[in-house]
Amino acid sequence: MFFFGAATSAHQVEGGNSNDWSEWETGADLRGLHANKRGIETRAQRAARIAKDKDWPDYILKNYPNPLQLENYISGRASDHYNRFQEDFDVAKKLGHNAHRLSIEWSRVEPEEGKFNKKEIEHYREVVRTLCERDLEPFITLWHWTIPLWLRDKGGWAHKTSPFYFARYVQKIVSALPEVKFWVTLNEPNVYAGQGYWRGVWPPNIRSPFQYFIANRNLTEAHRKAYVAIKSINSRSEVGVAQNVIYFAKFPARLKRYLWNHRFFRSIRRFQDFVGINYYVSDRDTEENSEFLNWPIDPEGIYFVLREVSRYRKPIYILENGIADAEDQKRAKFIQDHLRYVVKARNEGVDVRGYFYWSLLDNFEWDKGFWPHFGLVEVNYKTMERKIRSSAWEYKKIIGGWTKVQ
Ligand code: BGC
Repeated sequence: MFFFGAATSAHQVEGGNSNDWSEWETGADLRGLHANKRGIETRAQRAARIAKDKDWPDYILKNYPNPLQLENYISGRASDHYNRFQEDFDVAKKLGHNAHRLSIEWSRVEPEEGKFNKKEIEHYREVVRTLCERDLEPFITLWHWTIPLWLRDKGGWAHKTSPFYFARYVQKIVSALPEVKFWVTLNEPNVYAGQGYWRGVWPPNIRSPFQYFIANRNLTEAHRKAYVAIKSINSRSEVGVAQNVIYFAKFPARLKRYLWNHRFFRSIRRFQDFVGINYYVSDRDTEENSEFLNWPIDPEGIYFVLREVSRYRKPIYILENGIADAEDQKRAKFIQDHLRYVVKARNEGVDVRGYFYWSLLDNFEWDKGFWPHFGLVEVNYKTMERKIRSSAWEYKKIIGGWTKVQ
């Protein structure tokens, strides 16, 4: 059985979160403040100022009133998925999906250290039940970049006890959701540590090779502890991470592949049942880029990275692959082309077992605000109305014809 679906993450779609990112966006967390010539500004203000210098495509200016407003850089209500998950899963079902990836928001479940919120755990039980009722296999991410405020105040992932706190939270969740078989402990620890602790541009805005090293070490430890906890609660569960991988072809490709794609995988080698990858880009010069974010489009790259990670001899799941394309001009072809290369890898014996498009819905794209539109489904942020994009129907056709193309 091959899993086809789409992915989301809690902070990007739920709305109403109170965590390290939500405070960073508004400047409530002082580390989120940025100094410039004109004085101090919040991250959101800065983003809006930079955005002003861009040439916005006409359709953005036409269809989205006030594109430069601060609200676009504050997650706020996001896509209101917290309240509309049933409706959203109905759409996923209608689009032919048989699986869905989402994340649990740690700050909801454990808003105070060691105090777990029963109501919020019940919410996620309902979410998982809703997926199961629709025969959508849940792939549940336990941490997709946001942390509770109490943990941030202790020093976040650089705090020595962070792996213990994570494992304790994981234990609570996994015990409460026995229907879930597939667990993704961490989303892209490489991107997170790089942006937050090396470049210092995301929370917690630290730029220190030493802290970067510590955060990486703690994330590795957190995964290992979580792995052991999950397996002891449910031995038939399948556990892995979602690692951001890039196809590196330019010198020094081998070194970059090792550092970016494999170092984390190697550190958890004996602690994963599947290999989860998020693939978006390569470093090759490509003919086409995405209109937003300007990311190179290189479908063949997914074939090469699949071959790269096949060395772990574990089932592989593509947990994210997507394009920011508000006008839906390139998305259908993007999905088709990537899946063609997935088929090629499978035909050569690479054990790929699932593909999740990023994302089911338009959502809050971290420091880039609401502008990049990754969704199979368009969200009108004023009315929260959902509109299925035509590429979503194309994806459905591919899913329907999958056994034929292989
Ligand atoms: C992240 C998502 C993000 C996507 C598009 C991935 O690296 O896991 O949270 O929205 O890329 O940038």
